[in-house]
Amino acid sequence: MKDLISITDLTTEALQGLIDKAQDLIADPGKYCEKCKGKKLATLFFEPSTRTRLSFEAAMLELGGSVLGFSEAGSSSASKGESVADTAQTISCYADIIAMRHPKEGAPLVAAQAACVPVINAGDGGHNHPTQTLTDLLTIYREKGRLTKLKIGFCGDLKFGRTVHSLITAMARYQGNSFVLISPEELRVPGYIRKDTLDRNGLSYKETDNWNDMPDLDILYMTRVQRERFFNEADYLRLRDAFILTTDRLADAKGELCILHPLPRVNEIERAVDRDERAAYFRQVLNGKYIRMALILKLLGID
Ligand code: CP
Repeated sequence: MKDLISITDLTTEALQGLIDKAQDLIADPGKYCEKCKGKKLATLFFEPSTRTRLSFEAAMLELGGSVLGFSEAGSSSASKGESVADTAQTISCYADIIAMRHPKEGAPLVAAQAACVPVINAGDGGHNHPTQTLTDLLTIYREKGRLTKLKIGFCGDLKFGRTVHSLITAMARYQGNSFVLISPEELRVPGYIRKDTLDRNGLSYKETDNWNDMPDLDILYMTRVQRERFFNEADYLRLRDAFILTTDRLADAKGELCILHPLPRVNEIERAVDRDERAAYFRQVLNGKYIRMALILKLLGID
């Protein structure tokens, strides 16, 4: 495997290998601190980011490598009309590995086809975000001790939420998982996720517009309603506060519930929830750095 464009590029064995490597990185970071000495990571971000870009950069720095890149399209030659393919081919001359975020679905794949170094999809439009999924899988594994037999509630913007699409696709391959898809009617998961992933694999799932399944959930994956993906501001304003997680709302949830959110949060989780031990979303942030360290090592062929 040269690149990571979709979570489906990784076999279940490869996913477990990354989780195991991340666990080792957490346990013994000193063992890895010079593994990428002399290697360079380029972060090409055509869309805003805090966690993904900086965790990639922190990951490479902690492996002893160095980083270069840009954090907005306007400061690159994309603003002069350069194609994604030409940009990727150019950056291949300067860096050993590329992490790219782009608003257009499929742009990282185009980059991967033009680049002669590994390309990692760091989020493409409303499509995929495979390294967030790796982060989520590591977090679920560390919090619950397994990736099987879990009832997972996804809540919020399931239409544009690329992290939701990637995580459903990943969790669908583990035995005994079931899904509760909680959203307003207009923000339900896209038809291709329902048809190609959930229905085709005969998975147990339910679409709902209420919280009634809360007591049964093992994991609650909250998401932000994504203003930047709406064509119409009035629709965004109408839908943005449809689901807000409060401490009261958690009263009848399991004591071992694990609450995740890819972040950034706007106001879909009340800040008081952060003090609840079940809120795992900042632990999830830290896990993101370790799994990206594991991924960089894998794609560079370093053990
Ligand atoms: N979770 C995530 O992708 O966050 P950023 O947009 O800050 O990178």
